[in-house]
Amino acid sequence: MLKLENLSLWFGDDQIIRDVSFEVTDAELVCLLGPSGCGKTTTLRLIAGFEKPEAGTITMGDQVVSSAGYAVDPQQRDVGFLFQDYALFPHLTVAENIAYGLSGRSKQEVKEWTWEMLHQIRMTDHADKYPHELSGGQQQRVALARARAPRPRLLLLDEPFSGLDTSLRGKLRRETRDILKDRGVTAIMVTHDPEEAMLMADRIVLMRDGRVVQTGTPEELYTNPVDAFTAEFFCDVNHLDGIVDGDWIKTDAGLIPNQNYPDGTEVDVLIRPEAVTIGSEAFDKALSQEVRVCAVDYAGGASHIRLGLGETPEPATHIQARYPGPFRAAVGDRVQLNIDQSQTLVFPKQDNA
Ligand SMILES: Nc1ncnc2c1ncn2[C@@H]1O[C@H](COP(=O)(O)OP(=O)(O)O)[C@@H](O)[C@H]1O
Ligand SMILES: [Mg+2]
Repeated sequence: MLKLENLSLWFGDDQIIRDVSFEVTDAELVCLLGPSGCGKTTTLRLIAGFEKPEAGTITMGDQVVSSAGYAVDPQQRDVGFLFQDYALFPHLTVAENIAYGLSGRSKQEVKEWTWEMLHQIRMTDHADKYPHELSGGQQQRVALARARAPRPRLLLLDEPFSGLDTSLRGKLRRETRDILKDRGVTAIMVTHDPEEAMLMADRIVLMRDGRVVQTGTPEELYTNPVDAFTAEFFCDVNHLDGIVDGDWIKTDAGLIPNQNYPDGTEVDVLIRPEAVTIGSEAFDKALSQEVRVCAVDYAGGASHIRLGLGETPEPATHIQARYPGPFRAAVGDRVQLNIDQSQTLVFPKQDNA
């Protein structure tokens, strides 16, 4: 349905988009994810036709809509937008806001389509209200309905929940995903929040510094990240220095099987917090040892425990563990640390460029 191939874009001397390629299939919800400033909004603007690429092409259906120095007008792309600072027209009612993009349709159609949208967002009772009479969540629902009312073949959403508080955001994420999936809407949603992308996306396109780093389902990116950046983007991880010695990687936490790195390679071993358990049965004798509790912080719901590896009074290496509920141990106590080897990730050490 949509294909981006080798897109590049400069703003002045800065290359903002670098050789970006990905595809979106019919009825798919794709999240463009990445840290602030990595080029997500710019990519969305390229897809919408607000920017012309310097190189590469964008194809919608079987029509090339953008190529070097060329872009079909946004109005002619049949694309709906919900941009970050979506503003409803303050002087128009909810129904009028939704109907805004339907000019040119018959009166009957405008009425029907607007009503259908109001129904979908469960706001038929609010049709005649003005935006200032609505809560933040209701305004966001109306903005989504306005973007969808003309039934565009592609919907572009740029951080649509960023202005909402946490509890409302969670609710609207689910609701928005349900609406889009129920109606088979093809959509690209930009977010810098990995949790949001994991919850909502069929597929994630992860970006960094104007490039696509990895594309895949949320599960693929989480379980099989291409590099340490990707792994760390999804959750806090523990880092251990490792060095390859034959079939094993030596770390301060024990021996991890070597997956085909040459002898002597320095590696970065990443361990997710959920791979670390304290005091229970050992998963694996090689990665089980007695360690010292260095700090305990109880942060509502879970304790965060800092464990020191090694015998010296000042351990050189620490591992961060989580424990459900309050953790009954004092600093200085010795506890059994277990690491689930299947949840460790190994990457060749990179220069901290
Ligand atoms: N019109 C512009 N002129 C110059 N630089 C821009 C312009 N728009 C965005 N940028 C720069 O391009 C980079 C990517 O921006 P953007 O796509 O908005 O990132 P994101 O949405 O991922 O936060 C940023 O460094 C930003 O400062
Ligand atoms: Mg942005």
